[in-house]
Amino acid sequence: MSARKILIYPDPRLRTPCEPVAEFDQALESLVKDMADTMYDAPGIGLAAIQINVHKRVIVMDVSESRNQLQVFVNPEIFDLNQGTREVEEGCLSVPGFFVPVKRPEKVLVKAQDIQGNHFELEADEMTAVCIQHEVDHLDGKVFVDYLSRMKRERIRDKLVKSQAEPEARVA
Ligand code: NI
Repeated sequence: MSARKILIYPDPRLRTPCEPVAEFDQALESLVKDMADTMYDAPGIGLAAIQINVHKRVIVMDVSESRNQLQVFVNPEIFDLNQGTREVEEGCLSVPGFFVPVKRPEKVLVKAQDIQGNHFELEADEMTAVCIQHEVDHLDGKVFVDYLSRMKRERIRDKLVKSQAEPEARVA
């Protein structure tokens, strides 16, 4: 188990652009393993490498009930399939405790590579579509609170800054 520390908004490192992956090597395999451990440990349904301060275009997801269907997307690209939009309440491991409605395309085509570098395509809808779009935003340095009004976003930012400044509870 090697869960890593998740960056919390408004950490500026969540804004650093992510580079495409060029080498499909042992280092990528270790990164994906750590990302999966971090996501399952949190627990969450998706995690982008940037959230553990690795600025590469890698995403892990598991939207299954059983929590045993890991999906890995390397260098993902998303195309709107023009089936309308849907608004869903989203959460984010980097914005703990807040859920906000975000409107996104209902169905998307995902083009990506797997951990060996093989190209694949996936038509995503439902939670998979929501999650992949949320995670690709992370790779572009975007956090879901960016969809909110400035006032609402600042309220969330201030609360998270305050909660991180407080000393952690000590357990005897
Ligand atoms: Ni997120």
